[in-house]
This record gives sequence, structure tokens and C-alpha cells, in this order.
Amino acid sequence: MAKLLASIAWDWSLVWTAIGVSVAYNVVKFFYRLHQVRSMVREIPAKYGIPIMPHSYLFGHLISVAKVMMKQPSDVFGGCAPLFIMKAYPELAECGAMYMDMWPISPPMLTVFDPDMMAQFCQEPSLPKAELMHTEFGPFTQLKDLVNLEGQDWKRWRGVFNPGFSAKNLLSLVPTFLEEIEVFTDHLRSLAKSGEIVRFEEPAMDLTIDVIGRAALGARLHAQTKHNGFRDAMNKQVYWLETDRLPRTIVKLLNPLRPVMMWLHNRTMKNYFMPLIEQSMAEHTSQDTGTTSGGPKTIISLATKAYLSDPALRPADAKPTHIDAEFLNVLISQLKIFMFAGHDTTATALAFAYHFLHTNPHTLAALRAEHTAVFGPNPATAAAQIAANPSLLNALPYTLAVIKETLRLFPPVGSVREGQRDLFLTNLTTGARYPTAGWMLFSCSFASQRWDAVWPRAGEFVPERWLAREGDPLHVRKNAFRPFELGPRNCIGQELALLEIKAIMVLTLREMKFESCFGQGAQAVLGDVAYQVQGSGQVTGHPKGGMPMRVRLRTGE
Ligand code: HEM
Ligand SMILES: *[C@@H]1O[C@H](CO)[C@@H](O)[C@H](O)[C@H]1NC(C)=O
Ligand SMILES: *[C@@H]1O[C@H](CO)[C@@H](O)[C@H](O)[C@H]1NC(C)=O
Repeated sequence: MAKLLASIAWDWSLVWTAIGVSVAYNVVKFFYRLHQVRSMVREIPAKYGIPIMPHSYLFGHLISVAKVMMKQPSDVFGGCAPLFIMKAYPELAECGAMYMDMWPISPPMLTVFDPDMMAQFCQEPSLPKAELMHTEFGPFTQLKDLVNLEGQDWKRWRGVFNPGFSAKNLLSLVPTFLEEIEVFTDHLRSLAKSGEIVRFEEPAMDLTIDVIGRAALGARLHAQTKHNGFRDAMNKQVYWLETDRLPRTIVKLLNPLRPVMMWLHNRTMKNYFMPLIEQSMAEHTSQDTGTTSGGPKTIISLATKAYLSDPALRPADAKPTHIDAEFLNVLISQLKIFMFAGHDTTATALAFAYHFLHTNPHTLAALRAEHTAVFGPNPATAAAQIAANPSLLNALPYTLAVIKETLRLFPPVGSVREGQRDLFLTNLTTGARYPTAGWMLFSCSFASQRWDAVWPRAGEFVPERWLAREGDPLHVRKNAFRPFELGPRNCIGQELALLEIKAIMVLTLREMKFESCFGQGAQAVLGDVAYQVQGSGQVTGHPKGGMPMRVRLRTGE
């Protein structure tokens, strides 16, 4: 007995020692990394003569940044911060890029807003995605998805999905989109009847998730009319990711339920996809090789077809008729990323566009005039006309200009890449060189697309710039428009998103009136009460308040 007690006591001392060693190790590691980061930052002015914000050894740039951000509403989206800093430090802005040390809150970051310097790490060359993406998206897709894959794996999968985004295939999907938009317009009519103010991004998300369901899965989710278990699990899974603002992320990480919830949502999503995948496999195996299946190509059908026909996607011993477990994991990851990336950004873009149309009545009038010119005076006939000839959606230059101008002012995401040892960004005018080794490179479309060095009337909503020809002062310069990013890792879904938003606009804006309602005393950012925020569980910039909106029918106008 005494022996046993002694051994327990001995065990405890071992435990305490282990804890002590581990704490000491982590404290040392923390200060070592702190020293490393802060020294690297101080080299920037010392060795390269590049100006940086006032820098504290202990706090890095946290104090300088906090001072700037304190002048903005506390909920403003983090992706917007570089623009406020540029305005506060014009001598830094002039460089076209800005070194920011917010470690340990975020990795040391070189924020770039000069379009030609953005091209030097997103276009030629296109650097790998930043480590931060792996931390954030690992638990969602295990990084086996098109946004996070790299190298040969990425290339192969991009090749598999590209045919789904050809102009021809997208147009063949349009009739399915119209069915979903019809559900949306019905819902808007009932909102018009009740006169209530809604968070417009919510019905917009319901719609865009239904649309991407058609394009990715070839299935109807009915998210607009019913509770959808898959959609619910996906949103909740995204909620648990580390993509949130820091204090909220820490609380989530400490929550002991997190792994359980993530496991459950992961399983729900898989269970939703499984029958769809099996059905798609069955369709492809039952067909004679060589015959193409009728109907539009969906993400799921492209992937199963590639699996059956491309041995490079299968392990050597896998039978083509049997779904290999590893392939299944990759396919599920791909479906998750398409379902997520394919709806969130499109819905928020729609919400901001409708806000701009409300605050710019001349633009709205010109847009309606274009729709009438193409589809005739009766708005009720447009749906049938588009169904019969979807390419009519490509004859709406002013509508496209409105969408592009919206995405210029409110791009929902930027790209983050991993800096490289031998890579310097170069200011093409002065020849100044900016080291990238050890830095996360942030292609900040928000700051770039509102930078007055690049855009005349940068802060104003001017769709006309998108129709301006070369020589016109409003003409848009090369590399400047990058809400979808540019280069090989650009958005594969951009044409789909544009087509979708154009169709929604044609089918709503002449019948209805949309009024964003922020109420008296609402705070403004950069002169607009509608600004980007990042709410709990959101990954991208969302409209403030979900974009409060009142819908009215125009019959009595
Ligand atoms: C207005 C709507 C959209 C915006 C603003 C947008 C923006 C972007 C951006 C900035 C990227 C680059 C991300 C990075 O570098 O990490 C991207 C990539 C991607 N987007 Fe979109 N997107 C939109 C709509 C869509 C839609 C509708 C789909 C699906 C059909 C989609 C699927 C993807 C995928 C799969 C990638 C990764 C492409 C690759 O790396 O090969 N997006 N998007
Ligand atoms: C989530 O599901 C995928 C298969 O769909 C699996 O590979 C992965 O390990 C699961 N992750 C978690 C955290 O349960
Ligand atoms: C390069 O540096 C100059 C001088 O600092 C600055 O005016 C300019 O905006 C920078 N970018 C480019 C592309 O020239």
C-alpha cells in the first residue's frame, strides 16, 4: 500500500515536471518567435530603406493599427483595414505595398495594393496559398479542394472542372437557375405584400445556394422553401473554423464541443452527398463509353466521369466501378468547397448591388432601360425569353458594368500567398525591391480597388467606367480589377456568378423596387452606411446588418 502511494506520488511529480517543462518550452518558443518576427520587420527600414508604421518591439504594429481602426466602427471587416492604414500613412501608401506586423494575431504580412505588384505573386509567378489558409480550411476539406490544392494535384482537378465553366455549359445551366430564381421572386412578392424590412442577404443566400446546388450537384436543395440539413451542417461547420475574428476564434477553439460538432457536421455533409455520388457513378458506368450524357455538366458528374476515365485519379488497384475511399474523400472536399465558395460571395455581391441601385437612381433607371431594350416592355416575358435564349444575358453591358462596379467597391475576399526566399516584388517605376521571404503576401483587392492612384473617382459608384474606351480618363487599366483574383488561381466560378446575378437582376428590378433601410444615425464607413463586416461564423466580407431592405412592387408607381 505504502509502495503504491509512493509510486502515485512519484507519478504526480513527473506530471508536474512535464507540465513545467512544456510551459517553459512554449514560453521560450514564443519569445524566440517574437524576436525573430520583430527583427525581420526592423530589417525592412534598416536594410532595405522601406518605410514602415511606428513599430513596437513587444506589440509590433498592433498599436499603430489599433489607433487607425479605433476611428472606424468596431465591426468593420478586417480585409478593409489596409485602406484605412493607407489613408492614415500616405507615405507608406505611395510604395504600393505595406509591411504589417500583427504577430501573434496574424502572420507577418506584406499587404500589396499596387496592381502591378499584385501581378508579381498572383499571376507571374503564382505563389502557393499561404499557410494560414491551411489552418483555416483544413478542418473543412482536409485541404483536398480546388481552393487549397497545389501543384500537379491542383492542375489535374482544375482541368477536370474547367469544362463545367465553359460558356456553352454555363448557358445550358441557365434554365435550372431560372427555376430557382422564380422561387426567389415569389418570395420577394410576398415580402412586398407584408412590407417588412428583411436582412436581404438571407433570402439572397437561400437563392444562391439553390443555384449552386444545380450547378455543382445537379440537385434541388429547396433551401429557399424548406430547412435543408446539408446547408445547415455546412454553415455550422464553417462557424467552427478558425476564420473568425480573433477573440471569437479563441473562444471556439477552447470549446470542448468543437471536435464533436465538427465530426457530426462532417458526417451530415457526407451523408447528403453519398446518394448523389452513387447515382452519378451509376449513370456513368451504365453508359457506353464514348456517348456523352445529355444535360449540362455538373461538378459531380465531371468528377465521377474523370475518375472512371482517367487512371491518374485512381489508385492502381482500384476498380473503376467501385468508388475508392480516398477518391471519395477528395470528391466530397471538392463538393464542399464549390457549395460554399459558390454561394456566399455571390449573395453578398447581389445585396451590395441592390443597395447601390437604391442610392443611385440614375443607374437604376439606365439599367431598367437596358432590360426593356433587350426584353421588351413587359417584365413578365423575360424569364421565358432567357430560357429560350440564355445568351441574351450576354447582351447586357450596362448590367455587367453595375455588377463589376459593385465588386470593385466591395470585393468579398482577397488572396493570401506564401512569400518566397528569392522573390522580391518590384515597383516598376522606381525599381524599389520588396523582400517577401517569411512574409504572408496579401493581395488586398479592397484597398487596391479603392486606391486613388489607380482609379479616378475611386470612392464613387461609377458604372460608366466599365464602358469607357482606351484614352477616356475613366478607362480601367490592366491588372486593376481583381475581385476574382487574376492569374491561374483566379475564380473558376466568375462567369457563373456574373450570369446568375444578371439573370436575377433582369427578373426582379423592373417588377420591384428595393430600398436599403439603415435607419437614422447609422454609422458610415468611407461615406456609406452599407459597409463590409465580418459577423460571427462568416469568412468573407458581408453587408452590415445583413443589408436591411424593404421590397415594394412597382405597380402603383
Ligand atoms: C461574386 C462571386 C465570387 C467572387 C467575388 C469570388 C472570388 C474568388 C476569389 C478572390 C478567388 C481566389 C481565392 C484565393 O486566391 O484564395 C476565388 C477562387 C475560387 N472560386 Fe470564386 N468567387 C465568386 C463566385 C464563385 C462561384 C459561383 C464559384 C463556384 C461555382 C466559385 C468557386 C471558386 C473556386 C473553386 C475557386 C478556387 C479556384 C482555383 O484555385 O483553381 N466562386 N473566387
Ligand atoms: C470528414 O469527412 C471526411 C470524408 O468526407 C474524412 O476524410 C475526414 O477525416 C473527416 N474529418 C473529420 C474531422 O471528421
Ligand atoms: C512606385 O513608387 C512610386 C514612388 O514611391 C509611387 O509613386 C508609385 O505609386 C509606385 N508604384 C508604381 C507602380 O509605380
